[in-house]
Amino acid sequence: MLHSASASKTVANQICLLSSSSIPCTQLFKRRYFHQPASITITLPALLASTRQTRAHIARVAVRAFATEAPTPPARNSFGNLKDEDRIFTNIYGFHDFRLKGAMKRGDWYKTKEILLKGHDWILNEMKESGLRGRGGAGFPSGLKWSFMNKPLDGRPRYLVVNADEGEPGTCKDREIMRGDPHKLVEGCLIAGRSMNANAAYIYIRGEFYNEASNLQIAIDEAYKNGLIGKNACGSGFDFDIYIHRGAGAYICGEETALIESIEGKAGKPRLKPPFPADVGLFGCPTTVANVETVAVAPTILRRGPKWFAGFGRPRNAGTKLFCISGHVNNPCTVEEEMSIPLKELIEKHCGGVRGGWDNLLGIIPGGSSVPVLPRHICDDVLMDFDALRDVQSGLGTAAVIVMDKSTDIVSAISRLSAFYKHESCGQCTPCREGTSWLANMMTRFETGQARTREIDMIEELSREIEGHTICALGDAAAWPVQGLIRHFRPELEARMKQFQQEAQVQV
Ligand SMILES: Cc1cc2nc3c(=O)[nH]c(=O)nc-3n(C[C@H](O)[C@H](O)[C@H](O)COP(=O)(O)O)c2cc1C
Ligand code: SF4
Repeated sequence: MLHSASASKTVANQICLLSSSSIPCTQLFKRRYFHQPASITITLPALLASTRQTRAHIARVAVRAFATEAPTPPARNSFGNLKDEDRIFTNIYGFHDFRLKGAMKRGDWYKTKEILLKGHDWILNEMKESGLRGRGGAGFPSGLKWSFMNKPLDGRPRYLVVNADEGEPGTCKDREIMRGDPHKLVEGCLIAGRSMNANAAYIYIRGEFYNEASNLQIAIDEAYKNGLIGKNACGSGFDFDIYIHRGAGAYICGEETALIESIEGKAGKPRLKPPFPADVGLFGCPTTVANVETVAVAPTILRRGPKWFAGFGRPRNAGTKLFCISGHVNNPCTVEEEMSIPLKELIEKHCGGVRGGWDNLLGIIPGGSSVPVLPRHICDDVLMDFDALRDVQSGLGTAAVIVMDKSTDIVSAISRLSAFYKHESCGQCTPCREGTSWLANMMTRFETGQARTREIDMIEELSREIEGHTICALGDAAAWPVQGLIRHFRPELEARMKQFQQEAQVQV
């Protein structure tokens, strides 16, 4: 056993001389030994008796000491199979009462006052510890993002803006939350607002979402009536208002600064950044824009604890997640599952498999229309999380999984997406305005093969000129599907062009 603090310090310093760690040596030592007492009894006497020993010898003993630490649990290598009791969204299919009474039965609004009274620092730390990354597409760590609002008060009000535009093709998760579990979002607004010291939230909802806006308004009215929001929300002394703002259904209004412009009554055109919304946002005031799902999961994370949430998925990809699976599967659905679930398992388990069986699969767009398509051989074993999909040159995006079987004309499918992005470009930046038109026009010719094979490289180059050269990410979103097509389906493009040329020669 180690007998005195000074002795421990000496040994710690000796070990540290041999260590390449940047952690101060005494800290390192304390962390490794004192917090794991079982490991030190065996080896430290040997170290203390080693005044004559050489550094090399101490190193050998130290290595043994480290080796006797309590073993860290092995990293998990299988994900999925989320249990019902771990599901955050318990009414996304609308089987139960979405109103306050039903929501409270499902655990919403439980101890909200206590959470609010813990203050913004506590909420932010818990959110950071949970590892939650934004569910709107970019995957930025939410606790960190929300903390950008915590600057000294300067007299301006602060706003939380909830992005309920959900325009990304293939995505249908936020609307399910607002229709079936609207109180989760209302409570989430209050808590997220408290963490930012914002006294009002604007929920920007796509105009077509009539039922969703209606259910959400009912939930907000109930919350006001029962003192859960408004003046002295939940009896916490914190005042908080929530307003719904209905949009007119332009995809670009989902981009956070275009959305802010739209609430302000202007055309939905993204702003140049900086300044970022946390400095100058809605009505010139500090603002954070967050996705519906991101905000709606916050109360459950705080009630069940960040460790519970972080226990799902691989490191850096924590939590449970709503996946929306559409296209050529037997049962298209939106389902909450564990992050990092294998894509194949997600489809086989929750959607009854690919139409005609897995072997009939052509490719999958794993994260909404903006991310590059993956061919079957990658889909076989890729995991559904931010890092795994980035590693295969695609992305988790909004987790909208679009499945295409072998009956799909993949060139025509991607061409349709190019037409969409051309239509939705707001036209402010030249690379996007001109580039999306060029992409769409070329892709239309590619559908029939009416092009030279060298144009494949030309369109690829064109997409690179758009990507990263625009005010907002719509430019990237237009470029990536085309890049994915070329990366994985080039032979298909070439075959079409060859066939077209042969037919043209025959006609001549
Ligand atoms: C063209 C475009 C459309 C977008 N549409 C949406 C949308 O419908 N919903 C959404 O939450 N985020 C959308 N985003 C992302 C938002 O700009 C923003 O990153 C997100 O709302 C932040 O929320 P989070 O931190 O919770 O992920 C879009 C981005 C772009 C560039
Ligand atoms: S990238 Fe496109 S949509 Fe975004 S600001 Fe520029 S022109 Fe508008």
